[in-house]
Amino acid sequence: MSSSSTLITYMILSFLFFVNIDGNNQPCSDKFAKLMEQRNITVCKRLRTQGAEFGWNYHNGTNSTTTLEILFGAILDTSQGWIAWGVNPGERAEMIGTKAIIGIKNPDFATTSSPPLRVHTYDVTKETKSGCTLLPSKNLGLNVSHMVFQDEGSSFYTIYARLVLPSDEYNITRLNHVWQIGHAVSDESPLRHPTNLHNVDSTETIDLTSPRGRSTGQFRSFLRSVHGVLSIIGWGTMLPIGVIIPRYFRVYPFKREPLWFYLHIGCQLSGFLIGTAAFVIGLVLGHSSRYYIFHTHRDFGILIFTFSTIQMLAFRLKPKATDDYRKYWNMYHHFLGYGLLTIIIINIFKGIGILNGGDKWKWSYIGILICLGAIAFALEIFTWIKFIMGKWRDNHHDKKTNLQQNK
Ligand code: HEM
Ligand code: HEM
Ligand code: HEM
Repeated sequence: MSSSSTLITYMILSFLFFVNIDGNNQPCSDKFAKLMEQRNITVCKRLRTQGAEFGWNYHNGTNSTTTLEILFGAILDTSQGWIAWGVNPGERAEMIGTKAIIGIKNPDFATTSSPPLRVHTYDVTKETKSGCTLLPSKNLGLNVSHMVFQDEGSSFYTIYARLVLPSDEYNITRLNHVWQIGHAVSDESPLRHPTNLHNVDSTETIDLTSPRGRSTGQFRSFLRSVHGVLSIIGWGTMLPIGVIIPRYFRVYPFKREPLWFYLHIGCQLSGFLIGTAAFVIGLVLGHSSRYYIFHTHRDFGILIFTFSTIQMLAFRLKPKATDDYRKYWNMYHHFLGYGLLTIIIINIFKGIGILNGGDKWKWSYIGILICLGAIAFALEIFTWIKFIMGKWRDNHHDKKTNLQQNK
């Protein structure tokens, strides 16, 4: 028992490590590193969402200020749009209150000698969120200079700027910074950006004095990864293994009595407990998210939890093998069990889609499904070979006895 729980803990930890739990501390791309070199910027990090990258240098000035030099890069692959980076002097790293530098790409600006790009500073307020036009503003309470918004090729754009931050308002060991990408503009005003998971996760509190920009404010994404990994291991791996066992080891082609039963309930119970932990984390996350709700994923999740709880009732409500209505119980238990596996697989891919976390998640689970599928397929083939050989042997035996009787 203790060795199987060690194995499960090991699986959970290595999976978390493999999918890179929070995506923090990834090195910058070579392209971005080159662009930094051209501007003598020395430190950088890949931001956790929207493929954005961030480089900086700082030095403490006189008069309690810090001079910050930043390079922000992101993909903008539409004919018009904007990329933004900003700092928030408030309590939290969030949109409202951000003093932003926004690069606007608007084909209307293009002339024969200049590209369709402009860059300004903007004060993002509560009114912006509720739809008021966001106009350039110089009144930010900090000094921003040397702003450049540039097309670096392959739809990659950068914003370079120098900021003088008053130290009483901005602490560079706990700097709230925010970034965003939008795909519509009106003259020099950025228009509303999408609000999916990646867009609303585009904030963090960063320590600019640490070598790789250690950051906090990502507990939510950590919990999401834990929710995903526990779901994949509990619902998506243990339960299917638990179904393969009675299918092939109860009567045919192998009869391992009572081992199959203990393994079946062992796998289903641990899968159910791990899956329930994931389900609760999912509900807590869903309940506390202010911006979005994932109806289908949640409804499928509730269905999965309900069906598997019904299956677990077998512990108390399973009729004895000799009872008349045992065959009906078997039918419903099989039917619900296979139905459950189908919804689980669909919901795992739905969850991976929501997480927007890249191919690692998808391919990890496809890998698990291929392994389980290959084992089930091999056992199925073996079952059929054994069955056909048995039939053939019986026929052969019958023919032989008939011949002997006719002699
Ligand atoms: C252009 C006008 C903009 C509009 C209309 C707008 C609207 C919104 C809306 C509706 C949300 C979803 C949250 C909610 O429903 O309360 C949101 C979230 C967010 N926006 Fe904007 N936004 C705009 C510009 C910006 C800019 C320029 C930035 C970055 C500098 C930004 C960064 C964020 C971030 C990080 C979030 C996540 C939630 C938060 O921190 O509050 N937005 N925005
Ligand atoms: C979420 C939990 C569970 C699921 C998804 C599940 C699923 C299944 C499935 C699909 C089968 C049929 C496999 C086959 O032969 O093709 C099966 C068989 C069986 N399960 Fe479960 N099961 C669960 C929990 C339990 C529990 C808790 C018990 C008992 C305490 C149990 C007892 C049995 C028995 C006795 C059989 C053999 C039925 C027969 O004679 O045909 N199961 N289970
Ligand atoms: C069959 C397994 C799964 C079940 C039963 C399940 C269940 C849930 C539930 C009930 C919620 C709350 C939804 C809401 O109220 O809005 C949720 C949210 C979520 N799930 Fe799953 N989930 C499963 C698998 C996964 C997987 C594999 C991933 C990703 C790899 C994932 C990613 C997410 C995300 C990103 C959220 C949103 C969290 C937030 O609001 O911040 N889920 N899940």
